[in-house]
Amino acid sequence: MILDEKYNEIRDMVKKFSDSEVAPLAMKIDHEGAIPSELISKLGENGLLGSYVPEEYGGAGMDYMSYSLIVEEISRSCASTGVLISAHTSLGIWPILNFGTEAQKKKYLPKMASGEWIGCFCLSEPNAGSDAGSLTTFAEDKGDHWEINGVKNWITNGKEAGVCIVFAKTKKTPDYKGISAFIVETTNPGFSIIKEEDKLGIRGSSTCQLAFDKVIVPKDALLGEQEKGFRVAMATLDGGRIGIASQALGIAQAAFDYAIRYTTQRIQFGAPLSNLQGIQFMLADMSTKIGASRLLIYHASALKDAGVNYSKESAQAKLFASESAMWVTTKAIQLCGGNGYTKEYPVERYFRDAKITEIYEGTSEVQRMVIAASELKAIH
Ligand code: CAA
Repeated sequence: MILDEKYNEIRDMVKKFSDSEVAPLAMKIDHEGAIPSELISKLGENGLLGSYVPEEYGGAGMDYMSYSLIVEEISRSCASTGVLISAHTSLGIWPILNFGTEAQKKKYLPKMASGEWIGCFCLSEPNAGSDAGSLTTFAEDKGDHWEINGVKNWITNGKEAGVCIVFAKTKKTPDYKGISAFIVETTNPGFSIIKEEDKLGIRGSSTCQLAFDKVIVPKDALLGEQEKGFRVAMATLDGGRIGIASQALGIAQAAFDYAIRYTTQRIQFGAPLSNLQGIQFMLADMSTKIGASRLLIYHASALKDAGVNYSKESAQAKLFASESAMWVTTKAIQLCGGNGYTKEYPVERYFRDAKITEIYEGTSEVQRMVIAASELKAIH
């Protein structure tokens, strides 16, 4: 797929930033388990936190394709930083941009685009993961305000967030039908971080369990229509999944680039490893999976930018790119042998970081459910 020249320029610009500002910090971010606040500020200053926010709301006014390229290029250097951008932009900003009132857009988007307020998406709960519709957080109508009570799990950016998109039931139903969406500021009394998870990968990205204990929000904190919140969540995740696919692609590309460097420089049996056909076949399969992931991601992004339904295509992009990233990073360790298994080399980090892309924003099994439902609907 040949991309318009403007996308090459955007990629070059982000690549330069990623190589000079992000890559040198990646190992430290992984070891210390945090993204420096100065780096988050730089992302904001360079328009990378509000890429598709229209200029009138303080954003860079780009499209979704550009956003996908940004997440890919940043994740190539550091998957933790990549997902901070992705969760903030596609799960925090997009629902406000798409479902928010003019007043909500004016209030939140400029601060989110600049990075002053980082966004997070609070859907999952201890007992509601893949079955998101069974969540039990409740928002009670108290006349002139809402009172929110509940616990949210596995929330990316939970530690950095200034704004949360919170899904809570406003009607007690066993399924998704009673769910509404709210915009909640983390300075609200009653909001707290219960714990930050200690994880296998993306160790610089915060993943938190959050408490909403009698959190009072004004009536106009409702995002979209009351009891139509599940649609807000699902539509938001359609876009979010392209972001995670792009993150997976960036990780896979980094692992592949490293494997190429390593196998062309490592001498065994009197010649570079890359002279061996067995090694070449592995590199060829890695390259093909990366290429196919990229096409699926660009296709889904192009559909989104064209305003066409892209739910199936974003699920396909995430499913294929995340499973490919896991496969490619596994092979990258194999190609680097004992060295690849040590923390001195970056490939073990790519491998650890890749795993989560098969889990968050819908597991691979959930993506298969979405794809199959879409195909079966098409024939009825
Ligand atoms: N866009 C808009 N609306 C949609 C939609 C979409 N893509 N998909 C479904 N809907 C609507 C349907 O139209 C329906 O609404 P109506 O009844 O009003 O018509 C409603 O949603 C229910 O649809 P389904 O019956 O298809 O939904 P379901 O209950 O069978 O659930 C599911 C299907 C795909 C399994 C869904 O529950 C799901 O995606 N689960 C996974 C959730 C997930 O991805 N969680 C990750 C959270 S984010 C995260 O990981 C943390 C983080 O911080 C990054």
